[in-house]
Amino acid sequence: MQATIIENTSHNSYGFLSLSVPEEAVNDYRPGQFYMLSANNKNTYDPILRRPFAPYSVNSDRHELTFLFSIVGRGTRALADMGKDVRLSISAPLGNPFKILKGNIALIAGGVGLAPINYLAKQLIYAGANVTLYYGARNKDLLFPPFIDNKFGSFKHATPKSKQTKLVICTDDGSYEIQGFGTDLFATDVANTHFDACYAVGPKPMMRAAHDICVKHNIPLHISLEEIMACGVGACGGCMIDIKRDGKIQSVRCCTEGPAFDSKEVFF
Ligand SMILES: Cc1cc2nc3c(=O)[nH]c(=O)nc-3n(C[C@H](O)[C@H](O)[C@H](O)COP(=O)(O)OP(=O)(O)OC[C@H]3O[C@@H](n4cnc5c(N)ncnc54)[C@H](O)[C@@H]3O)c2cc1C
Ligand code: FES
Repeated sequence: MQATIIENTSHNSYGFLSLSVPEEAVNDYRPGQFYMLSANNKNTYDPILRRPFAPYSVNSDRHELTFLFSIVGRGTRALADMGKDVRLSISAPLGNPFKILKGNIALIAGGVGLAPINYLAKQLIYAGANVTLYYGARNKDLLFPPFIDNKFGSFKHATPKSKQTKLVICTDDGSYEIQGFGTDLFATDVANTHFDACYAVGPKPMMRAAHDICVKHNIPLHISLEEIMACGVGACGGCMIDIKRDGKIQSVRCCTEGPAFDSKEVFF
């Protein structure tokens, strides 16, 4: 299906893209699912393959999607360079979503892992969960400026049934707020606070650290894996990973079985 760019801005090394999309692109979206976006040049068809992204926010009333992405290579550079009103091709929502749990929930977002976590937080708050978000990056410049300026991004406008939301921001080098890793701050809080579940999205070492803490404290952890994906629909086999399930090692397609997984199934 086709989408139209409403706004496309860059903040440090991040692109922030808002799209007007057909109703069917947003109606059935659930947190953790992703879209394949085409960034190809209409004359050269380059890059030919679409790229996978989880949305930062989804507005089903206005049929709008926004994406927060790191500009790392050809596809994301081309996406960041697209102007307002340009039309681009986008898939329907793909992949397996996160389970939405209630209770006291910890969210850990590393770098651009903030994108899926931001929208997940909004849904958890609507569902009545108490949410603590640990958001970290290597330094101040790698924290997403509009989120920091807004304190809690789009979901601060949610009408929470939950009693409590808490935001903990940290940087590896201490250039903004607390110095340290989000996982270390989570580990400290876990000693005094009961968490019913945790979700983490970010670099693999961060998700592994979250997994070790959650196993130690018997907290279910859900993570999202960002494998390289060529088709996003289970056709190419390019995203095969091994997981542990039902006492066996199974090879699965991350795009259709995931990208959301129980961390106990994953080899880090
Ligand atoms: C389900 C899913 C959701 C994602 N959501 C987001 C998001 O919300 N925001 C965001 O910034 N990125 C997200 N990614 C990663 C994003 O798809 C890649 O960064 C992007 O495809 C890179 O395209 P490129 O052409 O710019 O880079 P390329 O030129 O293809 O590669 C540049 C560098 O990025 C690495 N890379 C390529 N594809 C991926 C990938 N899938 N994951 C990690 N590294 C990759 C390459 O190994 C290389 O080092 C997501 C990935 C998946 C699978
Ligand atoms: S990306 Fe093609 S099978 Fe998963």
